Parts: sequence; structure tokens; C-alpha cells
Amino acid sequence: MSWFTQTITSTLGRKLLMALTGLFLVLFLVVHLAGNLQLLKGDEGEAFNIYAKFMTTNGLIKTTSYLLYATFIGHIVWSLLLTAHNQKARGPEKYAYSKAAPSVSWNSRNMGLLGTIVFVFLVIHMRNFWYEMHWGNVPMVMIEGEEYKNLYAIVNASFGEWWYVALYTFAMLGLAFHLYHGFQSAFQTLGLNTSKYTPAIQGAGVAFSIIIPGLFALIPIWMFLVR
Ligand code: HEM
Repeated sequence: MSWFTQTITSTLGRKLLMALTGLFLVLFLVVHLAGNLQLLKGDEGEAFNIYAKFMTTNGLIKTTSYLLYATFIGHIVWSLLLTAHNQKARGPEKYAYSKAAPSVSWNSRNMGLLGTIVFVFLVIHMRNFWYEMHWGNVPMVMIEGEEYKNLYAIVNASFGEWWYVALYTFAMLGLAFHLYHGFQSAFQTLGLNTSKYTPAIQGAGVAFSIIIPGLFALIPIWMFLVR
């Protein structure tokens, strides 16, 4: 068996891949949030549309997007494989284990559920924005002297619906808990969660899992109330 096959089939290898793909997705979240915060500028979407045009026409960004899709798929597939493996290994004792394991936090035991919430959100999100931007009937607007798709119009219309705002807020709560556990788990797998670094890593994880989903949730709420 080659080292590659061994890595993606062993439990430790899969955990490592979960950690690395997770950290890449964390990086994506920061960049995505920075772009989306342009929505709060109150300039009728001018800055946001310039950003969206750049992101959908720049060759390097488009190539990175394929890596991003593959990373998302890898993260999900390996999580399912790990869950299936753990359940098989635990066998009939799994119920006793779930009920009586105070050291295992609610969050850690429910990573699958939290991941599913984020996944369902992602499917709806991609259908509504990403699919529309690429293949939908998007109104046009002048962006930097050139006629291009008015992505802001689609986002603004979506965040004018209360149930859409509620869905985003709920999903960001799920993302917050998912990140809270995932962050620490990734560093543990990578062996960086040693006693010297534990407080710093835990602090960074808590801050990240509150600030990033919090700001993501603020965008639809602000647009619903203020726009
Ligand atoms: C207020 C919150 C959010 C807003 C306004 C927003 C907005 C958008 C828009 C307008 C697009 C389409 C742009 C394009 O096609 O290039 C997009 C794409 C995307 N969004 Fe979001 N997003 C939000 C939150 C999130 C979150 C929390 C995640 C992940 C958990 C996420 C994951 C993605 C992905 C993977 C894409 C496709 C990116 C690509 O094609 O490179 N988004 N988002």
C-alpha cells in the first residue's frame, strides 16, 4: 500500500486531512467575510459589485475556487468515513457512551449534526447566490465603466425576506459551534495543542468562532433592518 493510500484510509490520516482541509476552509471564511462586509458600506452595492466582479473574472481566484470546492467535498466525505468508522468501532456500547461521558462535550458529540446544518445552509446558499451569479438571470449594472452582473441586487432581495435572514442567523449559530470544536480539534490532531500553547489556541478558537459567524450573521440582519 502506498503512503498516499495509507494516509487516506487510516483513522489518523483521515483526521489529519480533516484538520488540514478545515484550516483551509477557515482561511476561506476570513477572505469571504472581508468581501461580504462591503455590503455594509451603504453605497448601493458599488464596492461589493466591484469585489464580486474581480472574484468571478480573475483567473487565479477562479482556479483557487476549484481547490475550494474539492476541499469542501474532501472535508465532508472524510468526516462521514470517520463517523462510520467510529460508530462501527464503538459497536453496541455507543448508547451507553453517548449518555455517560461528561468529559466529551455536547459540541464534540454533535459535530455531525452541526456539520449537517452548515452543509444544508451551504446547499441553499450556493443555489441562491453562486448558481444565480454563474447561470441565473442577473440584472446588469455599470461596474467600473463596464456592464456586469449586479450581484448586490440578488443579495439585497434575499436579505429583504425575514425567513432568509432567520435561516442565515440560525446557520451561523451552527457554524459557530462547529468552528469552536473544529478549531481545537484540528490543532490537537496536528500536535500543536501542547500545554504551552493550549491557552493561546483555546483563546484564538473561542474568539474566531464568535467573531467570524457573528459578523457573517450581522450582514443579513443589518441589511434587513437598515436597507
Ligand atoms: C452573510 C453571509 C454571506 C453572504 C452575504 C455570502 C455571499 C456570497 C455570494 C454573493 C456568493 C457568490 C459569489 C460568486 O459566485 O463568486 C457566495 C459564494 C460562496 N459562499 Fe458565501 N456568503 C455568506 C456566507 C457564507 C458562509 C458562512 C459560507 C461557508 C460556510 C459561504 C460559502 C460560500 C462558498 C463556498 C461560495 C462559492 C465561492 C466560489 O465560487 O469561489 N458563504 N457567497
